[in-house]
Amino acid sequence: MIKEDEYHKRRRKFIQKMKKNSLALFFSAEPKTRSNDTEYPYRQDSNFYYLSGFNEDKSALLFIKREQKTEVFLFVYKKDKTEELWNGKRLGVEAAKKRFKVDDVFEYKELTQKLKEYIPSLKHLYYDFLLDYSKVKLLKSHAKDIYSFRNAAKIVEAMRLIKSPAEIAEIKKAISITKEAHHRAIQTAKECSYEYELQAEIEYVFRKNGAQSDAYTSIVAAGNNANTLHYIKNDAKIKKDDLILIDAGCEYNSYASDITRTIPANGVFTKEQRELYTLVLSVEKEIISMVREGVLRSKLQKKAQKLLAKGLIELGILKGSVKKVIKKQQLQKLYPHGIGHWLGIDVHDQCPYKDTKGKEIALCAGMILTIEPGIYIDKENKEVPKKYRGIGIRIEDDILVTKEGCKNLSQEIVKEIDEIEALASSHK
Ligand code: GLY
Ligand code: MN
Ligand code: MN
Repeated sequence: MIKEDEYHKRRRKFIQKMKKNSLALFFSAEPKTRSNDTEYPYRQDSNFYYLSGFNEDKSALLFIKREQKTEVFLFVYKKDKTEELWNGKRLGVEAAKKRFKVDDVFEYKELTQKLKEYIPSLKHLYYDFLLDYSKVKLLKSHAKDIYSFRNAAKIVEAMRLIKSPAEIAEIKKAISITKEAHHRAIQTAKECSYEYELQAEIEYVFRKNGAQSDAYTSIVAAGNNANTLHYIKNDAKIKKDDLILIDAGCEYNSYASDITRTIPANGVFTKEQRELYTLVLSVEKEIISMVREGVLRSKLQKKAQKLLAKGLIELGILKGSVKKVIKKQQLQKLYPHGIGHWLGIDVHDQCPYKDTKGKEIALCAGMILTIEPGIYIDKENKEVPKKYRGIGIRIEDDILVTKEGCKNLSQEIVKEIDEIEALASSHK
């Protein structure tokens, strides 16, 4: 668990980045209706969570920075016996005062009045530019003399790039549960007739081990379904010679894991599956070995493209030179996505890829990113020899950049062909 001291430090750091005579406001996420009067499970706004660790809706964080003085106020929803009977306990103002190192805690309904009090004497207003219009309106209704409006989210998202030891520990915990889930998937795939059965095996392990949720909807894609990058229907029958692409990771204490393994349904790779899998795996390992401080993600992507192109030419799947198949977008058809992304509170962690001058941000110790090359050959792709059609493979690991180079946080999740086959056959 990340301690209040750490959240307090983050708030201090945020306030240092504000201009003088300014106010910043962050809101908790709104509950989302599923249908009629039922809701999706609540998920806190990531930036609000990063600054508070507080998981209730109807709350807000207010920062005020004047010439000499700074103040941070938290607004929380009141304790109300009837509401608590239906929807569960709230922390309430008094307990929040004890838990949070803020200057004061108020009831959420007091927010409008406080904004009315503070905004007119200030010059700059920070808020999340993606905020709901009703909240922006509330802010701006008092902002006649405001000199500039600034995006508060951008500041926090840049802070989120470098993970603290406590954040790394949460992500490691998420990955350790996800490891068990992928291993169970490898062991039980043979027994599953439909993709959703395998999805259930995986998500059972997530919940059973205390993960609060999946970090994104699990992708369990058998055979040609793996060629739909965001396939989430998971309702098709699994054929015995299919490869199954499983992109699934749990969320633990609001931190994500993001892992893909591609496994044979019947426990054994066919010759063609093996050839393609070996290529993707060798590229994945090579790119991971390049991760270190100072490296650009774009360089990793270029290298992955070159290696995949070379391998696909050697297998007779692409024709021509490496340069040509990349330039003419032939590789793009078989490898259409990026090499990876930041990972953290969000699975695609909402951190910048470019600095404020538009220059790509180089890797730095404390960053966590995924490395996830793939090859996708649709069954209708007539340009590729028939034996390779209908195969989609991605292998994805979660990598921490360190002072010494990098650490693959998910290295214990099996991915060598013989390891996968051995694990599949170990379960009778
Ligand atoms: N699971 C989504 C992704 O790999 O980016
Ligand atoms: Mn990913
Ligand atoms: Mn993924």
